[in-house]
Amino acid sequence: MEKQRFYITTPIYYPSANAHIGHGLTTVLADAMTRYKKMQGFETRFLTGMDEHGQKIAKAAAAGGKSPQRHVDDMAVIWQNLWEKLMIDNDDFIRTTEERHIKGVEKLFRTIYDKGDIYLSHYQGWYCVSCETYFTERQVGEEHICPDCGKAVDIIEEESYFFRMSKYQDRLLRYIEENPYFIQPASRRNEMINFVKGGLEDLCISRTSFDWGIPVPINEKHVIYVWFDALSNYITALGYGSDDTALYDAFWPADVHLMAKDIIRFHTVIWPIILMAADLPLPKKVFGHGWVLLDSGKMSKSKGNVVDPQLLIEKYGVAAVRYFLLREIPSGQDGYYSEAALVQRINIDLANDYGNLVSRTVAMIEKYFDGIVPAAGSAEPIDRELEELAAAVVPEAAAYMDKLDFANALAAVFKLISRANKYIDETAPWALAKDPAERQRLATVMVHLLESVRIATMLLTPAMPNIPPLVWAQTGHEAAACLDWQQLAWGGTKAGQQVKKGEGLFPRIEWKEEEAKAAAKAEAKQAETAAKAAAVPAEAAAAPALIDYETFAHVDLRVAEVLSCEPIPKADKLLKLEIAIGEERRTLVAGVAQHYTPEEMVGRKIIVVANLKPAKLRGVESQGMLLAAADGSRLEVITLPPDVASGSKVR
Ligand code: MSP
Repeated sequence: MEKQRFYITTPIYYPSANAHIGHGLTTVLADAMTRYKKMQGFETRFLTGMDEHGQKIAKAAAAGGKSPQRHVDDMAVIWQNLWEKLMIDNDDFIRTTEERHIKGVEKLFRTIYDKGDIYLSHYQGWYCVSCETYFTERQVGEEHICPDCGKAVDIIEEESYFFRMSKYQDRLLRYIEENPYFIQPASRRNEMINFVKGGLEDLCISRTSFDWGIPVPINEKHVIYVWFDALSNYITALGYGSDDTALYDAFWPADVHLMAKDIIRFHTVIWPIILMAADLPLPKKVFGHGWVLLDSGKMSKSKGNVVDPQLLIEKYGVAAVRYFLLREIPSGQDGYYSEAALVQRINIDLANDYGNLVSRTVAMIEKYFDGIVPAAGSAEPIDRELEELAAAVVPEAAAYMDKLDFANALAAVFKLISRANKYIDETAPWALAKDPAERQRLATVMVHLLESVRIATMLLTPAMPNIPPLVWAQTGHEAAACLDWQQLAWGGTKAGQQVKKGEGLFPRIEWKEEEAKAAAKAEAKQAETAAKAAAVPAEAAAAPALIDYETFAHVDLRVAEVLSCEPIPKADKLLKLEIAIGEERRTLVAGVAQHYTPEEMVGRKIIVVANLKPAKLRGVESQGMLLAAADGSRLEVITLPPDVASGSKVR
């Protein structure tokens, strides 16, 4: 029977010498997903690569005194090395300066042009080189600042080809609404529905003021807009536009385009419309995960707070880094990185729970059975309970992995690991070993433990692919018998197999006391600030002093629409909201998490204090404050009817 296929992609990365663990999250997640699908019997394809054209790259190359091609060649080596160190097993690495890609983009452009959906006109407006994005006058405001990255935008005025996106607005909206799983998680989906409903303008898709790009096939004066060029990689890497379309035929449409949330808009608006215009099928799912944040906010080169994954791999090993990213960052939401949290995951989950289970089990079989796995006797209720838990954890982990939720999938695996550790305490093998009459019972217990180790280790393979071979070398399991999902059925441990104690899988990290203390202090301070912000001001209860109208008029109250909303990890009172005040986008932190779910917030028209000084809560900058009524323990966010225009002044 022909295998089912699975095609997953990450974004193609900009050439940069500052790869950080945030970038690593996407590729590790895609890699773990691919390994899981392989275990399930799928024929998989995993694509990553580099986004090498555009004005930003031309500028960076010039600043470094290199030709753009030389610049991107040097950077490609950096990314590829990093992926190798992170054990990223991609099938292909596409670079947009490759001939195969250029041919595909030309074909795509021509197809859409021939259809009449690309036309020549004139562009005058704002452009952020750093984000390679066009913005309207209102979006950049009076200060001419990019609403996404905050850098100064350029005014550009040039002849341009335009892509008739507006024509596809209704079709796209219908598609998103009819295919609930197309955009995931749901909060991103709602955000995009609102965005598309806000109206789509035709998109400028060529530039004439620089030449580092793919020339427009019908007019060499122009180069193709870098996002049109970059998005096409997902099909050009499969041979679209070449003579050999075997891979395209087998793997398109993609099962998942994976990325961080900041580029979801390009993938769920521009990319589907390009595909619609070219009469090509749309990807099945676009999944936007959250950001890896630091206490000091989002990692960025300018802040100098970039965490280099290579250093972490050298210090703690690749398995721990991969495990941390997958376990600690909640699916679809932002999560925090700190070295203290990483060390804690290593010491508690990996060393104490998992590593210990493996080493205790192997040591006991060596001690009590000379290292030869005995035959199990009949199972008692406590043994059956362990078997049943293992049988339940396998589908539970699979269900989470299918949703790209490795944090919960790994939590499920650790339920089995914890249960097995407890089983040791409950069955007390050391006591059984003292009584010759309990020899058979002891054998049964050992086999149950070793089988739990086998199942847990198999389930951990997608996250930590270098660990199973080390475990099998100690447990004596045949690697070939621990590869497929079907082999997760209870009973793979065989009498007669030989165990052999080896080195500890995850040595405990001695985390210096001062470091731990400093980390805990920083945490506590943050929590305190967050709690203060979340609390309804005490002054509200006391009779407030009178103010004149002029004082009141200083407060800029505006109607805003909640575009998306998510919890803030480790802050049970706070929600993080992305809001629109008219054309302007902002982030708000609000202490309403105990009264509203994120879903209940999305789509609301609320009132915000728009000129409040920004404040950082839990590392997230809150650019304003929402209004809510506090009635005892009840809290009601003031919500206006949906047709009140966002941006309206509240008087
Ligand atoms: N070149 C574009 C993508 C084009 S895809 C057709 C690009 N490249 S990037 O190098 O800037 O970013 C690649 C990915 O890394 C993006 O999904 C981006 O959101 C993600 N991340 C960058 N910083 C991140 C974190 N701090 N946390 C999680 N992901 C992060 O965008």
